[in-house]
Amino acid sequence: MAIPKQPSSCTLLLLALATLSFTATSSAAADCSGAGAGAISVYWGQKPTATEGTLESLCSSGNYNIVLLQSLVVHDNGSTPELNLADHCGNNPCSKLQSEIEYCQKNNIKVLISIGIEEKKALRTENRYYSKSNNLKTTKAAEKLANYILENYLSGKPGPLGNVTLDGIDIADVPEGDNIKWDEFVKAVNASTSARKIYLSASPQCVYPDAFLGPAIRTGLFDYIWVEFYYQNPCIYTNGDASKLLSAWKTWTTNVPKSKIFLGLVASDELAGYIPPQDLISKVLPTAKEASNYGGVMIWERNYDLKTNYTAQIKDSVPKGCRCVCDGDDAFAYNSFYGLGSAPLRVSA
Ligand SMILES: *[C@@H]1O[C@H](CO)[C@@H](O)[C@H](O)[C@H]1NC(C)=O
Ligand SMILES: *[C@@H]1O[C@H](CO)[C@@H](O)[C@H](O)[C@H]1NC(C)=O
Ligand SMILES: *[C@@H]1O[C@H](CO)[C@@H](O)[C@H](O)[C@H]1NC(C)=O
Ligand SMILES: *[C@@H]1O[C@H](CO)[C@@H](O)[C@H](O)[C@H]1NC(C)=O
Repeated sequence: MAIPKQPSSCTLLLLALATLSFTATSSAAADCSGAGAGAISVYWGQKPTATEGTLESLCSSGNYNIVLLQSLVVHDNGSTPELNLADHCGNNPCSKLQSEIEYCQKNNIKVLISIGIEEKKALRTENRYYSKSNNLKTTKAAEKLANYILENYLSGKPGPLGNVTLDGIDIADVPEGDNIKWDEFVKAVNASTSARKIYLSASPQCVYPDAFLGPAIRTGLFDYIWVEFYYQNPCIYTNGDASKLLSAWKTWTTNVPKSKIFLGLVASDELAGYIPPQDLISKVLPTAKEASNYGGVMIWERNYDLKTNYTAQIKDSVPKGCRCVCDGDDAFAYNSFYGLGSAPLRVSA
């Protein structure tokens, strides 16, 4: 994630201020070194257009920096993965999304294809192509899957989404992931080219380590990890208490230092783990931002967000906003938000 450029006078004064005014000098200065870090990603693609809107409307909302297209359904038996984007496509190929994807990318929003689950659970135990018992075959299968996705979604050549060059690959829900060597998969993606960056992300649940994605996460090759602080997990926000969440957050940020760690949040109180906007801002984000690899938040998912307006209410608090004095103005001001246009420094109340 690129860190937003700041006017150097602002940076200097910010550091000077941190040094002179605060007793916790070194930690205040260290926190501010990542000033502005904090992006927002969002899942889109599994609900009807009438419910979650179009991809272009998502990208023109000004709320997000990264969009995760869900899902590319990967089968255990090695057959060709299938793109499933609810009713957004009509018939495959879904080349009508090409221009919307390009619109997002032109507006500095990264678009990643998200690997999801095979829906028919009963079939998961059959025809295991990615057999655990044959390591060579399993590695080859992971490489084959990587090549297929790179060729069809990240090459600019005709594929299920038209001639797109997506920015990266997300690995989301993979309950059958013990059969696919996701560590070999991410290594193959990473080794496929030196000519460009291919972003890799993963969405583990908040219990560390993740049962299925653990080995892949240990490669250190994921750029972003959206830790899901929802579902019925022991580490979610419960009854106004953030202590378990923050303890899990510390475990993730400490144990996975090479990745930017994001708080995965549900945008609706219909789901377990929901954190009301004001609670997030006052009880969770201040501590979360102390991590040097704090990346921002992930929103699950666009349809709830449209209903609840969640992101709009939290987005100003997502970046590491360090207080600073700029250009002779002696009012306190916050940094502008990475990726949301070139908003000038705002004067806080
Ligand atoms: C693999 O599984 C998918 C989904 O269950 C099925 O449609 C496909 O026919 C299977 N392919 C093979 C080669 O068994
Ligand atoms: C996609 O690429 C193919 C050939 O590479 C070309 O024929 C086609 O016109 C392209 N489509 C678009 C929408 O650019
Ligand atoms: C592979 O990982 C290295 C180290 O993180 C990184 O510098 C490189 O850009 C990655 N390759 C791709 C294709 O993204
Ligand atoms: C969404 O929240 C923002 C920020 O609080 C507010 O400005 C906007 O009016 C809200 N939009 C709706 C539709 O409620």
